[in-house]
Amino acid sequence: MTTFAIRRGVAGDLDRLVDIEQAAFETDLLSRRSFAGALTSRPSCLFVAERNGRVAGYALANFRINSRACRLFSLACDPLAPKGCGRGLLAAVEQEALRRGCASIRLEVRETNARAMGLYETAGFRRIGRYEAYYEDGAPALRFEKALGEPDALKTPAPAAAPQGRTPRRRAAAR
Ligand SMILES: CC(C)(COP(=O)(O)OP(=O)(O)OC[C@H]1O[C@@H](n2cnc3c(N)ncnc32)[C@H](O)[C@@H]1OP(=O)(O)O)[C@@H](O)C(=O)NCCC(=O)NCCS
Repeated sequence: MTTFAIRRGVAGDLDRLVDIEQAAFETDLLSRRSFAGALTSRPSCLFVAERNGRVAGYALANFRINSRACRLFSLACDPLAPKGCGRGLLAAVEQEALRRGCASIRLEVRETNARAMGLYETAGFRRIGRYEAYYEDGAPALRFEKALGEPDALKTPAPAAAPQGRTPRRRAAAR
């Protein structure tokens, strides 16, 4: 698996972030303006994965005051990036969440996105909910959670959880 250099995103990454977003998703795309806001917003943390001087992917996590849950808002890699990009970014988010004293990471994923779910499950995330009509095109989402400090790839199934209300819509995969 290829190793990527992970660093904080900067304004000079905006063009690549928009390109990656357009290549990775068909709906619910983050705009250039959203990326620019995320780069300067304190509750947000945007990491990029770089290889040979070129940004190959990004992860955007949100940290709310008075919440010990980190929300992985978006994760995407260039379709041409070698394996390891997503895993490296996910690990960086987990380290940041631990550093900020979070107890868990949560995310939503399109239920047809087998590749992303494979990544999350092998990283220790468990399914905790399902939300109808979550994405712009009406598709449902699955919510996953990882309790920090637990070992990866837990074998025990998660109990079903009741919906906890709406959160900002995210994520649809194009591939
Ligand atoms: C999802 C995404 C971020 C994963 O990044 P990636 O760089 O491809 O993932 P990595 O190579 O780091 O990790 C791959 C892991 O995913 C899992 N995986 C990969 N392909 C898979 C597949 N077809 N089915 C199930 N699991 C799969 C495996 O666990 C694999 O780990 P392994 O190689 O050790 O077995 C990337 O594919 C992407 O950007 N997709 C489009 C956008 C998207 O769907 N984002 C997620 C929104 S929730």
